[in-house]
Parts: sequence; C-alpha cells; structure tokens
Amino acid sequence: QQLTAVVPAAGIGSRMAADRPKQYLHIAGKTILEHTIDRLFSHPAITRVIIAISQTDPYFASLPLANDPRITVVDGGAERADSVFAGLAAIDDENTWVLVHDAARPCVRLNDLERLVEAAIRSDSGAILAAPVRDTMKRGCQQINGLQGIVSTVDRNNLWHALTPQMFKVKQLKDSLQHALKEGAVITDEASALEYCGYIPQLVKGRSDNLKVTQPEDLALAGFYLEQLMK
Ligand code: CTP
Ligand code: MG
Repeated sequence: QQLTAVVPAAGIGSRMAADRPKQYLHIAGKTILEHTIDRLFSHPAITRVIIAISQTDPYFASLPLANDPRITVVDGGAERADSVFAGLAAIDDENTWVLVHDAARPCVRLNDLERLVEAAIRSDSGAILAAPVRDTMKRGCQQINGLQGIVSTVDRNNLWHALTPQMFKVKQLKDSLQHALKEGAVITDEASALEYCGYIPQLVKGRSDNLKVTQPEDLALAGFYLEQLMK
C-alpha cells in the first residue's frame, strides 16, 4: 500500500525568533525541513509528500526538494489546520491513508513510523504517536498580584504528549476538520478534530526524542539526536 504524507511547513517560527522560519535553519548538515522529509521517505510505503509552504516563502525553491518528483507543494494558510487542509485537498483519492507530520519534527525514527502505520491500518479512526507525560502536572491560576498559584495537581496517569505523525483516512480527517472548524472548536492537532466528532483515535507510544523544534535551546538537542540516528 502506498502512503501519502502531508507536512505543514508554513509557520513563521515566532518562538524560535531566528532570521528565518525554523524549518529552514541548518542542523546536522542540512535544513530541518530536509531532515524531516528524509525521515518520512525512509519508510518504504511513503511514496508521496505534500508540503504546505507560505505563499511568500523565499527559501523552499532553492532546496533540492523543490525538484523531487515525489513532492508536491501547496500554499499553506494562516493556522496550522489551514495548512494541513490545503495539503489534504491535493489528495485525489479520499479513501486512502495520510500521515500528517510537522516540518519541525526532524528526529522521528523509522521504527516509530512503522509502528504507527501498523496501528492505524488496524484502527477505525486512525492513530497518533504520543509519549507518556513524565513530570508531575500542575494546573495554575492567575492571582490578583500577578503571581501564578497552583490550583491542583493533575493526575498524569493516562496523560500523553501528542506527537506527529498522526495517521487517518483522508475522508475522515477532512470531514472532521471541516466540522470542527465550522463549529469553532479549538483544534491544535489532527486527532483533536476527530475527537471533537466523537471518534476515538489510537495512541501509539513513540519516542520522546521526536521533539518539535520550537525554541532556540531545542536546536542543539535536535542536532544531537540527528547525529545519533544518522550513524
Ligand atoms: N505551520 C503551518 N502553517 C501555519 C502554522 C504552522 O504549516 N499557519 C506548521 C509549522 O511550519 C510547523 C508545524 O506547523 O512545522 C508546527 O507548528 P509550530 O511548531 O507552532 O511552528 P510555528 O507556528 O512556525 O512556530 P511558532 O508557533 O513559534 O510561531
Ligand atoms: Mg505555531
């Protein structure tokens, strides 16, 4: 079975605050986006990648990726969900599976991709990579004096960090995103759209080093993990 991946890569990286969007920063020999695409193509069933980039992106065109016949480029949107939706719109056969994977997650391992694909194709409502929460979780509250108080400790049993890829049937994901967005639901990943529609996607335990490069201190860590997995 041939699989398509959609990669939202139209963000501006405001928290990274670099001279360019973080997906175009170089670590371990190439841009984060190039690492991410290489990781996806390391899975033999992933034969097509659709990348959503900003309409004003001056960086993508100069990458070798721009001439890769396995890659399709679409215009991203204002929010991550809009970029994902634009990518899904480029898939003709809605009865196929799609993996949605952040451009900013260059350290995903082949073994995790394999386990995700296995779990998703056996499921009714898709599956996502996720990592169990390890720290004690606190619910905070704003106090009058501007301080943050602790209201309670959240039971971390059964709490997970949602990672990507997240894998669904194209039609189910498109319909769910459309419905959730129309109703004004807060959608921060693909699974939340399906949950909103009453589906129960599966959690697949993934490695916690599949980090989303978000802040400056993440660059050195991602560089280290990439050197390790390219050995
Ligand atoms: N993304 C996108 N379109 C948007 C916003 C985000 O395609 N309108 C992509 C980013 O490029 C990234 C992924 O979604 O690969 C995850 O988003 P995030 O880590 O939040 O990236 P940014 O939005 O770029 O960063 P920030 O929130 O710090 O500005
Ligand atoms: Mg963002």
